[in-house]
Amino acid sequence: MENQDRPILEVNTNLYRTILLVLVAVFLCYTYVVYTTKTETDIPQMTEEALRGQILWQENNCTACHQFYGLGGYLGPDLTNIISTENKGPQYVKAFLNSGIKVMPKFNFSEAEMEEIVAFLTYVDGTGYFPNKQARLKNTGWVELKYKKTRNE
Ligand code: HEC
Repeated sequence: MENQDRPILEVNTNLYRTILLVLVAVFLCYTYVVYTTKTETDIPQMTEEALRGQILWQENNCTACHQFYGLGGYLGPDLTNIISTENKGPQYVKAFLNSGIKVMPKFNFSEAEMEEIVAFLTYVDGTGYFPNKQARLKNTGWVELKYKKTRNE
């Protein structure tokens, strides 16, 4: 009996080895594809100026009253697309910073600092739309968002 069992066992070992090799090969191919496929979203790079603007944004707690993509405090309006909104933009933002309005305090920023905040808001504006009316639900259940082209691309 023992002698008859042996060949069967050897066949199985070869089969397992083959299956293992196939799985390893599939894993390697899949890993290669996942790590080399470019993602759909090209998030724009932040400039040094925009980065300083972000620090000013954080230090002065603009988020206590304003939102990006609907998140933040609700005393003031959402500022995601303030730069590209018609009749608004850099000068409009500076006017608010210079004079303040209602509960928004007047900030004593230098011209350079206001430019930095504008650069930061321009960066945020470049990341997308809010509210995004061009979002599309895919069959996979993912939501495809429309992104903007920015000057950095
Ligand atoms: C204490 C709350 C508060 C803080 C802090 C604050 N804001 Fe405001 N902000 C407001 C309110 C309220 C308005 C809206 C006034 C209105 O239009 O009726 C406003 C309006 C604005 C607007 C015009 C928005 C539009 O669509 O008309 C801009 C730009 C702005 N704020 C930028 C900033 C920046 C940048 C900071 C931080 C440096 C900041 N705010 C900090 C309350 C605040």
